[in-house]
This record gives sequence, structure tokens and C-alpha cells, in this order.
Amino acid sequence: DAPETLKPRPPVVTIMGHVDHGKTSLLDALRGTDVVRGEAGGITQHIGAYQIKTKGGDLITFLDTPGHEAFTEMRMRGANVTDIVILVVAADDGIMPQTIEAINHTKAAGVPMIVAITKADKHEANPQKIRERLLEHEVIVEEMSGDVQDVEVSAKTGAGLDKLIEKILLQAELLELTANPDRAAEATVIEAKLDKGKGPLATVLVNRGTLKVGDILVVGTHSGRVRAMLDDKGRQIKEAPPALPVEVLGLGGVPMAGDTLTVVESEARAREVAAYRQEQ
Ligand code: GTP
Ligand code: NA
Ligand code: MG
Repeated sequence: DAPETLKPRPPVVTIMGHVDHGKTSLLDALRGTDVVRGEAGGITQHIGAYQIKTKGGDLITFLDTPGHEAFTEMRMRGANVTDIVILVVAADDGIMPQTIEAINHTKAAGVPMIVAITKADKHEANPQKIRERLLEHEVIVEEMSGDVQDVEVSAKTGAGLDKLIEKILLQAELLELTANPDRAAEATVIEAKLDKGKGPLATVLVNRGTLKVGDILVVGTHSGRVRAMLDDKGRQIKEAPPALPVEVLGLGGVPMAGDTLTVVESEARAREVAAYRQEQ
């Protein structure tokens, strides 16, 4: 086989932090949306996957993780597809149990971290205290002469958002992220559900290759064929390149978060691989 041609791909950035520290609001501010308002009790219940285009034309993929403890496992799975973690710490609340949990997951995954000290607009905000408390967890930010980037932000006023984007892009550049878009796609299931009307639905993140409508696939122990794909704004798309999160219709069953989706050359092959995986 000819060697693969690797091309630059967007970074996949996971937002982690304590409950209500402002993860979804930060993403809303970056995307110009209002997801928080639509959430039951303002609590994120499932992983949101979005891609934004920066003013400079760069693409960044974001994963928004639920703040609840019960989702720890899902979050750990999420770490496998993550290039960079944004640790969100509310400036008025400080280091909390799930902040520490997020620090530990990030360290265990060996993923670079950027600390976003948010709600900086609040008068009780004390960013310096957070930088000091982070030392206790061996997170040494630039301001404390360490090498972890940190930035003060406010989802409410928009302060610091450009700086955060800058730091993400800088970190991504150092990682030299690449993928071959010109091959059969491989993707990771971020979340999946059974929709009454549409059948099994999975939000997947393409790891390599380009996923196309009509592709024959195996996902977890199910086979299928891509009937349609929707981007994070619900628009139908025909092709999904590396690092783009898409919702896929046409699966034979509901896969699990963390499952791999593989495109294969024939339905016979798809059934064979699915049967093999069922035996495992
Ligand atoms: P979970 O998903 O439930 O863990 O919460 P989250 O971390 O996504 O926090 P969320 O975005 O839901 O925000 C929690 C609360 O903080 C909401 O009431 C927001 O309006 C408020 N909030 C978030 N960011 C800011 C900010 O920058 N400034 C101020 N003043 N309030 C904020
Ligand atoms: Na919340
Ligand atoms: Mg949230």
C-alpha cells in the first residue's frame, strides 16, 4: 500500500469542570448559541459536540461534558478522542470535587490542559486564589511560572474569549494534529439513542478518513449504511471529514458511547465484522 497522506485536522477540545461552573455557557458564548436555556434545570445531561470556525478561519471541535458524577465513565471515554482539555473553574467558587476529578482524568490521559477561569465578571471573582489553589493539585499556570496556559474569561461579557481561542490554536499547533481524509472513515461514538421516528441515532466524531452518505459500516456490534448525516446545526451534510462531529442515521442498532464506527467495502463484510464483534 502507498503511504498515507496526512493532512492537518482541527483539534478536539473537551470542556471539563465542576457542576454549574459555566462549561456550557462558555461554549454558548464561543458559538453564539443558547444551549443552557434549553437544558432541563440548566444541567447538561448528555455530551454536546460542536465545531466552530474562528475569525481567522480555523476550525475547533468542542465536546461539552455533563457535570454530573454519574457521567464520569462517559467522560473518561471522551478523553480518548480529546486533544486538549479546557478546565473550567468558576472564579467565584474555586476548586471543587469535580474540578479535581477533571484534573486527574486529564493527567491520566496525558492530554494538555488550558485553565479557563470563568465568571470573571462577578464581583466575588478571585482568579489569583484559584491559581494558588491549583498548585496544590500540581497544576502550575503560566502566571505562577508554570507551563499550563490559563486565561480569565466571562461568558456573560465575552471578555477573554479571543484569548482563549488563541491559546487553543497555539496548543493545537504544538500538537501537529493530522489525519488522512482520503480513506475509508473510522469514527468514535460520542453518544447514541433510539429516536422514535428516525431509529437508532449516533453522534460520532470522525477520527480519520471521510464519512460519506451511502457508506456501509459497522458500529459496535451493529452493521448499517449511512442514510443521512446532520451537523451540529441540524443541517444535512453529505461528507464528514476528520474531527467533524455528526449525527448518523441508518444504523442497525443503538451503539454505545466509545464504540468504533468502521466503514467497510460490502454488506457481507459488515455482517461478518458485526458477527465477529458479537462473539467477543
Ligand atoms: P452543568 O452542565 O450543569 O455542569 O453546568 P455548566 O458547567 O455547563 O454551567 P452552565 O453553563 O450551565 O452555567 C451555570 C450557571 O452559571 C448559569 O446560571 C449561568 O448563567 C452562569 N454563568 C455561566 N458563565 C457565567 C459567566 O461568565 N458569568 C456569570 N456571571 N455567570 C455565568
Ligand atoms: Na448548569
Ligand atoms: Mg453544562
